[in-house]
Order: sequence, then structure tokens, then C-alpha cells
Amino acid sequence: MRKNLLALVLAAGKGTRFKSDTIKVLHPLLGRPMIHLVVDCVLALGPEALYVVVGYQKDQVMQEKFSGKVGFVTQEKQLGTAHAVLAAKKILQKQQEKDLLVINGDLALIRPETLKPMLKKHRQQGNVLTFVSAEMKNPTGFGRVTFLENGVIRIVEEKDATPAIRRIKEANVGIYLFKVKDLLQSLPKISNTNKKGEFYLTDIIEIMSGEGRKVGIYKTPYEQEIVGINDRYELAKAVEILRIRKIRSLARRGVTIYDPDTTWIDLDVKIGRDTTIYPSVILEGKTVIGERCTLYPFVHIFHCRLGNGVKILTSTMIEECTVEENAQVGPFSHLRPKTVIKGGAKVGNFVEIKNTVFGRGSKAMHLTYLGDSEIREKVNIGAGTITCNYDGRKKHRTFIDDEAFIGSGTELIAPVKIGKKAYVGAGSTINKDVSPGALAVARSKQVEKPGWGEKKRKK
Ligand code: UD1
Ligand code: CA
Repeated sequence: MRKNLLALVLAAGKGTRFKSDTIKVLHPLLGRPMIHLVVDCVLALGPEALYVVVGYQKDQVMQEKFSGKVGFVTQEKQLGTAHAVLAAKKILQKQQEKDLLVINGDLALIRPETLKPMLKKHRQQGNVLTFVSAEMKNPTGFGRVTFLENGVIRIVEEKDATPAIRRIKEANVGIYLFKVKDLLQSLPKISNTNKKGEFYLTDIIEIMSGEGRKVGIYKTPYEQEIVGINDRYELAKAVEILRIRKIRSLARRGVTIYDPDTTWIDLDVKIGRDTTIYPSVILEGKTVIGERCTLYPFVHIFHCRLGNGVKILTSTMIEECTVEENAQVGPFSHLRPKTVIKGGAKVGNFVEIKNTVFGRGSKAMHLTYLGDSEIREKVNIGAGTITCNYDGRKKHRTFIDDEAFIGSGTELIAPVKIGKKAYVGAGSTINKDVSPGALAVARSKQVEKPGWGEKKRKK
């Protein structure tokens, strides 16, 4: 833990430019809501306490499960970033000798690599305020850093800027370190006489430096990570950067990803070494993939667990499932929630499985639907097998014991049990349990009418 450091994340604003029913900071980037990315980064700095300023949709923000201890302060009306900091006044008054990091809640790309040297500089120089700036190719939308006489620094918001100021490339990033005592003295001096009629936290820079107090600038070289996401296009741009960051870190840990441009891997996904990922694969949620797996093109996996040596063939979707070691799924399979494919099992072309345990070494290779079933080991499911699990009101279970053989085109009307090593003849409609080792055939007998074809043609 870092001594005498407090942190405040500003997240009370609606995010009007998102044009959304959901507050901006809860929009996800690669599976993780924006606010988490900022909070996680600040927590990595090890403050004694971290508070999030909440307001708009505060109940939703407060319900989030954060990765560390987080407190909340409420800003009832969103009257600007300075006003947001004032919401924490009571907490700050008791801890005047400490430093406070204030950070905008929409800086989703921020990394500790920026915050750590900033804090170091702030403390080494004994500043009352240090803020982060960056030289940007296109600083549109950002406050610009301007230097007046006598060392006074002023931030001018885009809306309040003259054309000359808009040409300035040095931008204010939205990260500040204050000595709490000085912050509390200067905050009440901020007014709202600007284009937006808001209390701008950035005005404190001119106030403090105008009074001759020590204000420092930490200029970050990482232009990429300082995007304050204001609209959904900026969100897309930020996701792009995070996506490449994630793929790079996996690649460096021994995962082959052939085409980073078309691969989507959520931040919480874990992948073991020597796994290979072909183009156009999407891996979402808290998916965990083992070592030596191969994921072929157009595989979409959501919240799954894959063991070592698993193969997922082209155009397969798997949601909330477990696929154990050395199993193979696809091409064109759909595994729906609560399905477990046991070790070495094979599921093939156009097979859909839901809420089913599919046993070790069993096979269902073609055109099949298995729902609410338990399939034991080394079972063979013939092409076109269907479990009729739904009677219009309730779901029923199908149980198939070890080494049973289900002939092609079978309908299994649940609830039904097929015994160990039993056989079901192709084309059967099974509505009664089949005993172990027995053969069950349930189809109408074939009849043959000699010469019938010949006669028909002559008519
Ligand atoms: C702010 C800075 C700007 C800087 C930019 C960097 C000000 C006045 N301007 O502008 O200089 O270049 O960030 O991204 O600070 N918030 C509250 N309560 C409020 C208003 C805002 O909690 O009353 C929160 C928002 O939820 C958001 C953060 O503060 O997370 C920043 O607000 P935003 O409106 O995005 O500020 P910018 O216009 O981007
Ligand atoms: Ca912003």
C-alpha cells in the first residue's frame, strides 16, 4: 500500500454524447465495464482508499463488483468536475496532509505506467498540484494547456477556446494529483462562468499557479492511453487499442494468433501456451482455454472452459459449456449452456447439444439434437438422432448408458433410458426404456410389392 495516497474516480456524469439509456462508465470494453478499467489501474497504484463519485444511475454503478475495496460518494446534481470533487469534501477534510489522485472515469486505456512516474514526480518536486498532459496529433475535444505570463498555466476547454488556442496540441488528460489541504482551499474559488455553465476542475490550475504555488506537469509519452471516451466512436477506437494489447500479451506468453486484425478476445479470457487460433475467432467473457488447443476460423466461444488439446473446428458456437481434454467439436456445431463434453468425445457437423453431459469417447458426428440428456461413455449417436425433450409444457431427460448404439434417424421421446450396450435400430421412435444389451426397433415393417414399378410406368 502506498502511504498517504487517496484516490477519487469521477463517474457521476451521464455521458450525454453516448446517447444511451445506460451511464457511459458501465459500457463494456472487451467484456469489462469502462469504470473497472480505471478503478483497476488506480488500485494497482495501491492507494490507502479509493472512492468513486457517483450520481447518474448511481445504484447501478454501486452494484458493480470491483476487484478491490471501493467507497462511494454521491454528487446529486452533475454541475461539473470541480463540483464532483467537492462531493468528497467531508472525507478529505479529515485527511488534509495526504495526496489525492483525481481521475476521470472515462480514461479506460490508462495504465499504471503513467500513474506511477506521475506520483513520483509530484512527491519529488513537492508540488501542490501535478497534472498529466500529452502532445496529441488531434486534440479535438480536450482542454488545451496554455502558458500565461509569470508561469501561470491555464487550461482552456474546447468550447471556450479561440481558434488560436484550438491549434495548440498539448492537451489536458484528466488526471490530477493534489495536496488535499491546498485543494480544499482552492476549490471554492472556482466559478461556473464558462460556455457550459459548469464548475471546471481544470480552472484550479490557473488559480493555484496564479497564487505562485507549485504546479507541475507530467507529460506522458503514451498518447494512446489518454483517450477520455466521450462517444461510441471513441469507444470503438479504444476497444481496438485494448484488443491489440490483449492479443500481444497472449502472443508473448506462447499463444499463436495468426490474424490479430480479425481476432476478438475479451480481457478476462485466459489461454494456455501452444494453443493456436486461426482468423476470425471470437472468445468472450471469462473463458478459460487450455494448452495445445486449436480453434479454427469463425469459432465463437462465450464463458466456457476448454481443457488441454481440445479442437474446435470451423463455424462453431459454444456458450457456457465445458469441453474436456482432447475432445473435438465442429465444424458447424452449437453447444448451448450447461453442456459438458467429456474427454476425447467428438461432436461433429450440424449437431446441437443443450444441458447435456456427453460422455468420454462418445460420438455424435452428424445432424443431431441432444437436449437435457446424460450420455455415458463410448456411446455412438447415429446421424439425425433427436431427443424429443419438450412436451409443450415440461422438459424431460434422456439417459443413454455406456457403449450404447443409437441408429441413424432415431427419435428418443423423453423421459427415456437406453441401457448399457443396447442397440436402437435406425429410424426408430423410442418411447419406452431399452434394457441393457437389447436391440430395440420401433419402425413400421417394410413391405414389398413385386412388379409395382413396372405397372405404374405402363399406365
Ligand atoms: C475533461 C476536462 C478536459 C480534459 C478531458 C480529458 C474538465 C472541465 N475538462 O473534459 O480538460 O481534456 O476531460 O478527457 O474537467 N463528471 C462528474 N460530475 C460532473 C461532470 C463530470 O462526475 O458533474 C465525470 C464524468 O462522469 C467523467 C469525468 O468526470 O467521467 C469527465 O467528464 P467529461 O464530461 O467527460 O469531461 P470532458 O468534457 O471530457
Ligand atoms: Ca471525457
